[in-house]
Amino acid sequence: MTDQIDTLLQETRRFPPPDGFARQANATEALYQAAGKDRLGFWEEQARALEWITPWTQVLEWKIPHARWFLGGRLNVAANCLDRHVRTPRRNQAAIIWEGEPGDRRTITYWELHREVGRAANALKQLGVKKGDRVAIYLPMIPEAAIAMLACARIGAVHSVVFGGFSSESLRDRINDAQAVCLITADGGYRRGAMLPLKRFADEAIAQCPSIRHVLVVQRSPGGAGDESFANMTEGRDHWWHRLLDLASPHCPAEPMDAEDLLFILYTSGTTGKPKGIVHTTGGYLTQVASTTRYVFDLKEGDVFWCTADVGWVTGHSYVVYGPLANGATVLMYEGAPDWPERDRFWKLVARYGVTIFYTAPTAIRAFMKWGEELPAKHDLSTLRLLGTVGEPINPEAWMWYHRNIGRERCPIVDTWWQTETGGIMITALPGVVTTKPGSATIPFPGISAQLVDQKGVPLPKGGGLLVLSEPWPGMLRTIYGDDQRYHDTYWSRFGDKYFAGDGAKLDEDGYWWILGRVDDVLNVAGHRIGTMEIESALVDHPAVAEAAVVGKTHELKGQALAAFVTLKEGHQPSASLKDELKEHVARKIGAIARPDDVLFSADLPKTRSGKIMRRLLKDIAEGRALGDTTTLADPGVVSRLKDQYESEEG
Ligand code: WTA
Repeated sequence: MTDQIDTLLQETRRFPPPDGFARQANATEALYQAAGKDRLGFWEEQARALEWITPWTQVLEWKIPHARWFLGGRLNVAANCLDRHVRTPRRNQAAIIWEGEPGDRRTITYWELHREVGRAANALKQLGVKKGDRVAIYLPMIPEAAIAMLACARIGAVHSVVFGGFSSESLRDRINDAQAVCLITADGGYRRGAMLPLKRFADEAIAQCPSIRHVLVVQRSPGGAGDESFANMTEGRDHWWHRLLDLASPHCPAEPMDAEDLLFILYTSGTTGKPKGIVHTTGGYLTQVASTTRYVFDLKEGDVFWCTADVGWVTGHSYVVYGPLANGATVLMYEGAPDWPERDRFWKLVARYGVTIFYTAPTAIRAFMKWGEELPAKHDLSTLRLLGTVGEPINPEAWMWYHRNIGRERCPIVDTWWQTETGGIMITALPGVVTTKPGSATIPFPGISAQLVDQKGVPLPKGGGLLVLSEPWPGMLRTIYGDDQRYHDTYWSRFGDKYFAGDGAKLDEDGYWWILGRVDDVLNVAGHRIGTMEIESALVDHPAVAEAAVVGKTHELKGQALAAFVTLKEGHQPSASLKDELKEHVARKIGAIARPDDVLFSADLPKTRSGKIMRRLLKDIAEGRALGDTTTLADPGVVSRLKDQYESEEG
């Protein structure tokens, strides 16, 4: 087996920045030069765009693997997101435009948001929540999610947002790990027309969470004001959010926080074991998310920015709440599913609110592809001027589909690589500056040092290998909450002085990065290490295919044989001849070595709740093993149905 990952797929399309966009872009070539000359100076420059109570005295202290940024500096994140905007005419601008799944709407100006956050902060104080205390937030995508986060930041409490789609057990484990003293939840939240009983899940969880002293409950039930019947309230412990906030003063001083004080913990599930509480702090995190938002999303006065992520994920933290609000932007928040009540809900929203910047995930784009291009075509998407993607490698054909059908061949696309652990965007095109290639995240953001290495950590000039980060960056995780040893073991034990991201990647002649996916997903076929991504992209390149996942299964001769799980676009039928055609298609695009041995058609693929394909489970199916841990799946039914289907078709 060779050490490197072989890279087979060739992509030659190039998209230079449109002239009109380049002329008005926030980003310029000079940013790369400035950061290249003086990396720390560049980050200091970015930090100066924030409002500090006390300036820092030292930019970085780096004792591997522990970084501290902006030492001695003090600031408050909520004050940066709100107070400095309400002192200007921006106070009357919409901070959050929100639409609920049933179609209810709210617009909250900076002024109003500032007051709501002040009230919520005072309510938390009244419940005894103090600086440094952990507060768990388990809410649907409603404005109160952002308000709760900002209220914690205002008083220096550490929030731990738990995605509203998680079960009561997941919530329980996260609360207990963080020893949260307070939980903010809602009576319910809408998903595909039904009301998810969040408070009931929360009650089940906190029955086993001795650290929780108080529960704040936002009313989202259909009864409207006054109907508080949807949730059971425990006297003394549970409080209606609206009642406490009505009584609370909107004025709450922002707590001066040290740059290295904790801002939040966000749990991320690894492939195995208990979730890791990723720790982010105040000054460095805000510096990175505010500057990446400004340059990557090119935010301007008047923009309507829609990042479709839920606040339960890091993308929602950094690019629904902190990055955009620190920049004084108008964000759109939508509560529900993209296919409710119809599959063009997103495009209706873009048209209704005049969205200008749209940021979503490849899993969503592949669903749109599957549903057909007629749906976006029915709507006026002419306000869009920039598109983004995050979360998984995007297959070049999905990129092209996005470019044509959503961007109407007019909008640059920023494919942004980063992680919960990195806090903010790390590899991305700067729109207006960098020429894009479909499927490539392009080049590191100014001030970020990415490196390609082999299995032993030796730097490689190009080709396939592992992606590491060779210098600390402001938004980096500081540790794993309560388990610093695990922090060392997970990210630093492999290469010592370099952060190992866990992703395989390819670096091309132009220094562009092509993320190949998690290294656990790398295949070994007849001595070649091949990323699943490239074979999947070849499959998605076929006109009938919307989405594909490829895994290896043990093969006596080849080491691994390839099994492909394929979802077809609407209007295409599975058939034996299509199977053969797809195998041929891959062989033609990549080479005979990558020809899948099995092709299985499936209406759905097993995905995590954040939309990432779980290849590990598909591997269990292909190898005829019992299924591994399925608790992080969005819909465990998908994988058990697939297993039955695979066994009946292949057996
Ligand atoms: C993957 C999401 C390819 C990658 C912000 C990473 C990507 C993991 C991209 C982190 C991208 C994220 N291209 N792969 N543009 N963005 N990934 O923690 O494998 O949910 O390590 O953070 O998603 O996922 P997380």
